[in-house]
Amino acid sequence: MYFDTHAHYCDKRFDSDRDDTLISLKQAGISYVLNAGSSVRSSKTSLELADKYAFIYASCGVHPHDSKSMTDDTTEELARLLIHPKAVAVGEIGLDYHYDFSPRDVQRKRFREQLELARFLKKPAIVHEREAFEDTLEIVREFPDLTGVFHCFSGSFESAKLLLKLGWSLSFTGVVTFKNARRAIEVIKHAPSDRLMLETDCPYMAPEPYRGKRNSSLYLPQIAEKFAEVRGVTVEEIAETTTANGLRLFGIK
Ligand code: NI
Repeated sequence: MYFDTHAHYCDKRFDSDRDDTLISLKQAGISYVLNAGSSVRSSKTSLELADKYAFIYASCGVHPHDSKSMTDDTTEELARLLIHPKAVAVGEIGLDYHYDFSPRDVQRKRFREQLELARFLKKPAIVHEREAFEDTLEIVREFPDLTGVFHCFSGSFESAKLLLKLGWSLSFTGVVTFKNARRAIEVIKHAPSDRLMLETDCPYMAPEPYRGKRNSSLYLPQIAEKFAEVRGVTVEEIAETTTANGLRLFGIK
């Protein structure tokens, strides 16, 4: 039983075979998928997928790339969407100083607003952080009663420890199967087992040996195998533990 805690099936790369792909997941042992919104539009379509498929849950939020397009009305609209019973988290939200598609001060403002929304609604947050760890840490520290997950975590074990101490979880993509994944491997090896989750971030980030291809939740076991190897436990144990962690964090019964 697997839980893909971060996927983007609204992406146009699934337009030609979205339903076929989703139907095939159950047979492959993928029992739960969290489809992450990254704009108002994809938050809505995430909820539509959650309405259509029992095993799909959704998050609603605006990605830092698009924070420049947000207005005060956007936050209100997200609040309305998040009333949906299968909207289990606010995200993905955060800071991305690698691409800087939105001005940094705007990213920080909209990140804070969406964290406030998560706190108000008592839902976990799904955080995207790239080359912005210090500012991201400073901002999540302003919300000590709020936790969630840092998705596609790429930081050092030192950074991981700071987040774990604040109660946050970490999830990892197929990147852990790449040759240069030394930092991620160290985190996976030493982090407490109840704070780790698996995600594909599909259609991006396909694991080896599929690197560069379109990713899907079908490749989640490749990530679990890497986890099992690094932690010295069975793949079944990784699948079971990470699924339980996801269900608990997102409040799925
Ligand atoms: Ni994502």
